[in-house]
Amino acid sequence: MALKLSLVALCLVLPAFAQQPLYAQCGGIGWNDGTSCVSGATCNKLNDWFSQCLPGSAPPATTPTPTPTPTPTSTPPASTPTTPTSTSGGTQPTSPANCPALPANPTLKSVAKLPDPFTFFSNGTRVTTKAQWDCRREEISQLFQKYELGTYPPKPSSVTGSFSGGNLTINVSDSGKSISFTATVTTPSGAGPFPAIIAYGGMSIPTPAGVSVITFNNNDIAAQDSASSRGQGKFYTIYGSGHSASAMTAWAWGVSRIVDVLEITTGHNINLQKLAVTGCSRNGKGALVAGAFEKRIALTIPQESGSGGAGCWRISDAMLQSGIDTQTASEIVGENVWFSTAFAQYVNQVPVLPFDHHMLAGLVAPRALLIIDNTGIDWLGPESVFGCMKTANKIYQALGVADSMGVSQVGNHNHCAFPSSEQPDLDAFINKFLKGQSTNTNIIKTDGANDLGFVDSDWIDWTVPTLT
Ligand SMILES: *[C@@H]1O[C@H](CO)[C@@H](O)[C@H](O)[C@H]1NC(C)=O
Ligand SMILES: *[C@@H]1O[C@H](CO)[C@@H](O)[C@H](O)[C@H]1NC(C)=O
Ligand SMILES: *[C@@H]1O[C@H](CO)[C@@H](O)[C@H](O)[C@H]1NC(C)=O
Repeated sequence: MALKLSLVALCLVLPAFAQQPLYAQCGGIGWNDGTSCVSGATCNKLNDWFSQCLPGSAPPATTPTPTPTPTPTSTPPASTPTTPTSTSGGTQPTSPANCPALPANPTLKSVAKLPDPFTFFSNGTRVTTKAQWDCRREEISQLFQKYELGTYPPKPSSVTGSFSGGNLTINVSDSGKSISFTATVTTPSGAGPFPAIIAYGGMSIPTPAGVSVITFNNNDIAAQDSASSRGQGKFYTIYGSGHSASAMTAWAWGVSRIVDVLEITTGHNINLQKLAVTGCSRNGKGALVAGAFEKRIALTIPQESGSGGAGCWRISDAMLQSGIDTQTASEIVGENVWFSTAFAQYVNQVPVLPFDHHMLAGLVAPRALLIIDNTGIDWLGPESVFGCMKTANKIYQALGVADSMGVSQVGNHNHCAFPSSEQPDLDAFINKFLKGQSTNTNIIKTDGANDLGFVDSDWIDWTVPTLT
């Protein structure tokens, strides 16, 4: 079904006991080579099949991110005094008026191909206008919360914070419970205000010139240690360990609180109209969910997010059935707490899900979305990601903004190591959507031969309306 690139870099035979270089594999099922990393890198378990040497002395995916040392200055930026609770910029999009309500106990029917994003689940009407899409978007969000991701809570009753010396402190309380967490802001030189990228666990794409980086320690908000770490983290201190929100939903909530506090503090010199979010692998899945739920994010850049991120469950199942060892829904729920407990009952009957991840990407629309992906690693499901996201682009097409969503898929590099050949694609999106420049972002491409075997008619039996 698909021509695969061999993962040359991962197949290098290294001398026994050699220390693995930065970004090399250092463990995983079937790995019989070195498990320690060169100085300055640590072996991080990314999933059961793959551990990787990543920069730093602490694994970004499982432990708190080390706080970068702020550059000492003789005149530190003024600390912003305690500010009043934010009342602006609620994170939940206001539900449009006159939208059909989801039935309490919907009947799910099996749909083998990728479900039609343009037909209302609740009333069967096909979407023809942008106003109807606003309702449909809200319906899709509710469906994802109900069946896969758990509830994304509205803005808590109190969100306060401060910005000082590169530290953004976020204080949240609701229903008598309080938490405080910190994100670090690295500011470029120059006058600003600067666009900013919120980076789950730190940047794994190259930091663009003139852009601030907000390092988000997502694991502090919701743990992702294993399938047993459900309900751990500061999100659950507020809402209770039994809250339905999956780790990814909790992280999106954390991103929303960061934006809340950016809105009510000064001194950070960040342009709030130009915010992006990114992450790689498991954190790439999370970045996509943040872009889907938080409308104040202008550009979402999931990197190598694989199945459960930019991949579609249905296509990943087909890949596995065709003999490609791709991560699937039924595997993923046993591995970690990225998805809600409710999702588990659907993982062996994926076709009854009233959505797939082309529609998760569609929640980001019309805001910008760039998928950075890797053709060379089977378990990431590159066929699934390419087909799923090519299909997601049809939602952008319907909204008249096809070039606000791109896919750049390149192989022959290690997981989460950004290849220089993708730099022009990243630059095009950063320059247009964070820096306001005019660039060509008409980018839907894979280096896999024959579109990795993806044929629209195998997966799509609906047409793309032009929404008016
Ligand atoms: C379904 O809901 C949409 C959005 O509110 C509406 O425009 C459409 O008329 C509804 N269809 C039916 C059959 O009620
Ligand atoms: C945030 O919470 C911390 C820890 O409880 C506290 O020291 C700080 O004063 C609070 N800041 C604001 C702005 O509320
Ligand atoms: C920023 O936070 C770090 C870690 O909590 C702390 O060590 C540092 O002193 C803080 N910097 C300032 C200027 O508050």
